Amino acid sequence: MPLKGKHIVLGISGGIAAYKSAYLLRLLIRKGAEVQVVITPNGKEFITPATLAALSGKPVVSEFFAANTGEWHSHVDLGIWADLMIVAPATASTIGKMANGIADNMLITTYLSAKEQVMVAPAMDLDMWAHPSTQRNVSRLRQDGVIIVEPAAGELASGLTGKGRMEEPEKIVEAAEKYFLRQENKPLTGKRVVVSAGPTYENIDPVRFIGNYSSGKMGFAIANAFRQAGADVTLVAGPVGNDLKLYSGIRRINVRSALEMLEAMEKEFLCSDIAVCAAAVADYAPAEYADKKIKRAKTDGMTLHLVKNPDISARLGAIKGQRFLAGFALETDNELINALSKMERKNLDMIVLNSLRDEGAGMMTDTNKITILTREGNTYGYDLKSKREVAEDIVSFIAGHIGGDD
Ligand code: C5P
Repeated sequence: MPLKGKHIVLGISGGIAAYKSAYLLRLLIRKGAEVQVVITPNGKEFITPATLAALSGKPVVSEFFAANTGEWHSHVDLGIWADLMIVAPATASTIGKMANGIADNMLITTYLSAKEQVMVAPAMDLDMWAHPSTQRNVSRLRQDGVIIVEPAAGELASGLTGKGRMEEPEKIVEAAEKYFLRQENKPLTGKRVVVSAGPTYENIDPVRFIGNYSSGKMGFAIANAFRQAGADVTLVAGPVGNDLKLYSGIRRINVRSALEMLEAMEKEFLCSDIAVCAAAVADYAPAEYADKKIKRAKTDGMTLHLVKNPDISARLGAIKGQRFLAGFALETDNELINALSKMERKNLDMIVLNSLRDEGAGMMTDTNKITILTREGNTYGYDLKSKREVAEDIVSFIAGHIGGDD
């Protein structure tokens, strides 16, 4: 009974699917949760607070102040009280406000005050769901750590058929139960983990560098998933954008070049049990750094002399001992053969293969499709998933593997 005794804030915004929220509320209560409903002004046009108050056994919160007494409803208290906030249905407008912090109603202020996990079940017409603006906002929420319960495809209130229907209440409850089970199940408690993420930048002169398009999303998601599994996590991050979220308690070491990353990784690995090399390390760096900006020459061409960077994962492989070491292989052809030979060469225990031939896989996407290969010669294929889910798969695989399940 993972929902027993859990405090859940159920946020309801103004969509036709709000009628399903009454059923969702009943299911949550039946599973033993305590539920507080927060509804937007538009939500009340679709379902009455009286129904929701009767089902939850608590007055529904909607306004900032009680009309008769002027009493202030504290979204801060609600945000602290909640073990989980579920927004269902989440309209395009509510998703947009959540993604951008537009706090003009109680649902959004509660969201901004929520200390624990937030889960969103979008509901809208297919064109609204597919619109780049909605997709941008949804992807923003994902980056902010919100769990998205993807809408299902089917008949919509507009009469059209397509993706946009709010997922069925049973499925939303299932997602909530899964979340709490994951929270309770901390198989890596007591383990120390170091993860590398992002690109490296190799300086040419004070204004130029050699870099690559790695976003760091995969490595950050892996660090978060390890933390969620109870591990003590250090993230060694190359230069990435500042919109990547890290769970609290993760130690972050910022580096720029491959040499800096090597130094941090070697030092951390020696006092860790597990390392995952998810960084896209530049293979070569300029042989010399010019301390003044290089001037444009009169000649047509210019030659930059490069030297090979150390292979960080191979260096860790050489000092591995009993530690567990995982790497990545991003391939375009002969994927399996290349990945296997990398695992061998670098002395890895496991390699995560992603092929650029798979749509949605790779460096700059929000999704990934992986195959895990182990030193023992086993191969495990996974579906295309969000990087967050892929990270959870990788971490639970490692947890099972070092526990001897493979
Ligand atoms: O050989 P390749 O670069 O494809 O191998 C990828 C794997 O090796 C990744 O896990 C990456 O983090 C790691 N790597 C490294 N140091 C390098 C190059 C790659 O740790 N110089």
